[in-house]
Amino acid sequence: MMEYYQENIPDEYLILKEGQLYERIARAREKLGKSLVILGHHYQRDEVIQFADYTGDSYKLSRLASENTEAKYIVFCGVHFMAESANILAAGGQIVILPDIEAGCSMADMAHIDQVNECWEYLNGIAAGKIIPATYINSSAEIKAFCGKQGGAVCTSSNAAAVFKWAFSHAEKLLFFPDEHLGRNTAYYHLNIPLDEMVVWDPVKVNGGLSREEIEHARIILWKGFCSVHMQFNEQQIKSVRQTYPGIRVIVHPECTFEVVQSADESGSTEHIIKQVSNALDGTKWAVGTEIHLVNRLAKWNPGKLVICLSRISCLCATMFRISPERLLWILENLLQGKVVNRIEVSSEVRSYSKRALDRMLSIT
Ligand code: 13P
Ligand code: SF4
Repeated sequence: MMEYYQENIPDEYLILKEGQLYERIARAREKLGKSLVILGHHYQRDEVIQFADYTGDSYKLSRLASENTEAKYIVFCGVHFMAESANILAAGGQIVILPDIEAGCSMADMAHIDQVNECWEYLNGIAAGKIIPATYINSSAEIKAFCGKQGGAVCTSSNAAAVFKWAFSHAEKLLFFPDEHLGRNTAYYHLNIPLDEMVVWDPVKVNGGLSREEIEHARIILWKGFCSVHMQFNEQQIKSVRQTYPGIRVIVHPECTFEVVQSADESGSTEHIIKQVSNALDGTKWAVGTEIHLVNRLAKWNPGKLVICLSRISCLCATMFRISPERLLWILENLLQGKVVNRIEVSSEVRSYSKRALDRMLSIT
């Protein structure tokens, strides 16, 4: 794993009033002009995302990072793997900054490169030449580089089906990490692969807990990883909202379990969820199974519709929440003084292979 050093934000930023903060951020943005672009993921809080030049899901933001070659600084309001991907895709000389280095993703941390190498070696001892790897973008740069080296690709929740189809045009079996649920949902609902042709590799068990026969029979080997935010949604909540609000449509993120996606009316990336709810007629009702900041924003944007969170317990991504307006201001004011803090930079060796896997994704979709 790449090591990053987090600089401490000075106390003076932490005592600023909201109005002062917003005014200073706006002023700094204006002074930095075209040298700066701020990218914001849909799970960011309102106080932060209001300053984003572009917002999007992981796919849209990756594309923006690869196409926006003008700005010297890309400030990424999102989590670590997103900023790392932006750094890999950005033009040489562009500087990517994550306002809080500790804004990680617990799912991405569930697959370590050493575990992946061990798994790959074991699988190839059984089915050499028959397997292709693909990684969810929610993973480290080393894991993306592994996929690039082995002829595989990256995917996001919005293009997983296309990447899986591409993978099966190159190999008989697919090893997918780190999200077991996105993998199963994509394979079953978009590629019609039966559940008994999928196995789960548990990295903490000897040989992933799988026998030779299970691997020989499987078409998909899913990594045992998950998103703790999306695991909070369940079928009982869907039954309950349908009873309370007859006619309500349930839309969830594909990081939810297979059973939740099966009981919902539809599933898709954050960008897809926004489009579906925004394009629906006034008077419609929606229960949304994803991170609470996006759900609350959807409710605000759609006053003529009922938009509620599928869970009554607030489903917050704590690491996305680490990006605050105070940190954004601190980053920008440092840039004005010619100082870069919290830079995200992948080593050149990892970069070339991980770029290969990300570029494959961009060329497939
Ligand atoms: P999207 O690419 O759908 O925005 O998802 C990112 C993510 O981390 C969901 O938990
Ligand atoms: Fe990671 Fe889940 Fe947060 Fe998305 S919502 S960044 S998958 S922890």
